[in-house]
Amino acid sequence: MAFPESFLQELKMRNDITEIVTSYVTLKRRGRNMVGLCPFHGEKTPSFNVYTENGSFYCFGCGAGGDVITFIMRIENLDYVDAVKYLAQRAGMELPENSYDDSLSRLRNRVFEANRTAARFYFDALYSQTGRAGLDYFHSRGLSDRTIRRFGLGFADDDWTSLCKYMRSKGFKDSELVAANLAVQRKNGNGIYDRFTNRVMFPIIDLRGNVIAFGGRIMTDEKPKYLNTSDTPVFKKSANLFSLNNAKNSGTRTLILCEGYMDVISVNQAGFANAVATLGTALTSEQAVLMKRYADEVIICYDADEAGQKATARAIPILRNAGLLIRVLNIPNGKDPDEFIRSHGADGSAAFKAVIEKSGNDVEYRLQKLRLANNVETTDGKVAYLEAAAKVVAEISSPIERDVYASKICAELAIDKNSFMRQLENISKRRYREGAKKQARKIQTDLSGRNDKINSEHYKKPRSSSAEEALVVYMINNPDSAEEIASHLKPEQFQNSLIRRYYEYFLGRIQSGYEPLTNIAADFTQDEASKLFQLLSQSVAAASTHSAMMEYIKVISEESRKPSSEDVASMSPQELSDYLEMIRKNKR
Ligand code: CTP
Ligand code: MN
Repeated sequence: MAFPESFLQELKMRNDITEIVTSYVTLKRRGRNMVGLCPFHGEKTPSFNVYTENGSFYCFGCGAGGDVITFIMRIENLDYVDAVKYLAQRAGMELPENSYDDSLSRLRNRVFEANRTAARFYFDALYSQTGRAGLDYFHSRGLSDRTIRRFGLGFADDDWTSLCKYMRSKGFKDSELVAANLAVQRKNGNGIYDRFTNRVMFPIIDLRGNVIAFGGRIMTDEKPKYLNTSDTPVFKKSANLFSLNNAKNSGTRTLILCEGYMDVISVNQAGFANAVATLGTALTSEQAVLMKRYADEVIICYDADEAGQKATARAIPILRNAGLLIRVLNIPNGKDPDEFIRSHGADGSAAFKAVIEKSGNDVEYRLQKLRLANNVETTDGKVAYLEAAAKVVAEISSPIERDVYASKICAELAIDKNSFMRQLENISKRRYREGAKKQARKIQTDLSGRNDKINSEHYKKPRSSSAEEALVVYMINNPDSAEEIASHLKPEQFQNSLIRRYYEYFLGRIQSGYEPLTNIAADFTQDEASKLFQLLSQSVAAASTHSAMMEYIKVISEESRKPSSEDVASMSPQELSDYLEMIRKNKR
């Protein structure tokens, strides 16, 4: 089930957390720790901490935390066993044999293999007699055979079992096909059938070249137009991007973000390998952070229709929060990128290049939208435009840039720049006050633990929980004290069930002679590990002396003797008065 302790210890020693994190995040020293921008959520000020001392990380912004194994699990999207394998390989270590339960890891590998085999099957079908309709369809949409091969496009025929049959002949089990979402269980429970039929197929490939999912398009006007693989053990829609595997090798640090498969493929065929698309969902901050790993700038290239414009407005703050520069491409005549390129025939590439060069940054784009929405020839329209424009400009963080836009707007409308600048100042002040208030409220609720889903009992019993948390942290940092603590406190005396589990777990490890934190990634869920490392990272502020430890023990014993409010409610008058007497005695 588990890897041997000695193996994991060596693994961690040979994979220094700072060194590993540095290959994904730029870290700066701050006091004893290293800090940087969190790779797991978008942020502009660093709240991601790496603690070299105990080999852990914690983000005060999003609450992600753990050790080097957890870090690799999260950032590389691997399960526990694969993350350990990854780190072992990196450090040139042999894996101990048969020492771990790798059933999930084996299933994931089978799903990858099934997907690769299916992609090959769909591709071959496209160039066979059955796939004629699919090939004609792609050709009719202007795709060359070279492009079709580059993207590994394919065809799923209209027989509901052809893929299943083929996959079985290649040794895949029905359960594996269902896990890969290549097949679906029949409602009556009798067998399985193909998930994709009578569609042209778009394989989705991850950064390591694995086929992780498919999109399938129907060739008529029927609905749904696209069918996509549901989430599987190897695929999470909201965390992947179509064609990022091509874009990452395109040699630029700019990405073109499109809405759909066909847009990306057309843009590629026109000579821009740096196009990507979300997979049938709105852009997530996870995807934005992923883009930031390969790019500094994103050109949003959504459809010119209303839905596309709304999606653009939603994407801008998400991308900006991830620290990306943004430009917005304006495609003339309400076309999507694919239609635009196709409509220019042989000049498609040049025409698209021209539009890219004309594309403004997001501020320009938003000002232009406002300009179109308001009639600045009328006084009312002018006032409305200026107020809305001031709000947009006030969001810019660079003062120089702010000034440039202010000048431009004022010159355009022939108005006095000073009054516009005053307006900007007022907006900034108000935003700052609102921001500060919001932040204060958030800190308040965080401290009260009201929103803490993992450690939900803290809020109900703050006094005992705080002492229990502090004591567990103390024990982890001072393993020598474990025996003394254990002589005073039994696990049952802990009121908070999560902290009680931590206590039993770490006490057990220390008493068995193990280093406390070595096996966290295997023994706790990611959320539980995050919570633990949150407590550990806050311990800097908590007292860590022997007398503090005795104080925590005293509080926990006291609290454990207190009856719960339900108990008090059911006490007889005599019991209640005895109880009150006892509390009074203890106080003295
Ligand atoms: N999409 C989806 N499911 C649907 C419709 C759309 O997952 N039922 C996703 C697909 O990834 C698609 C993208 O949203 O590529 C954009 O949809 P749309 O603009 O409708 O399609 P186009 O990309 O223009 O596709 P086509 O040109 O083939 O019509
Ligand atoms: Mn289209």
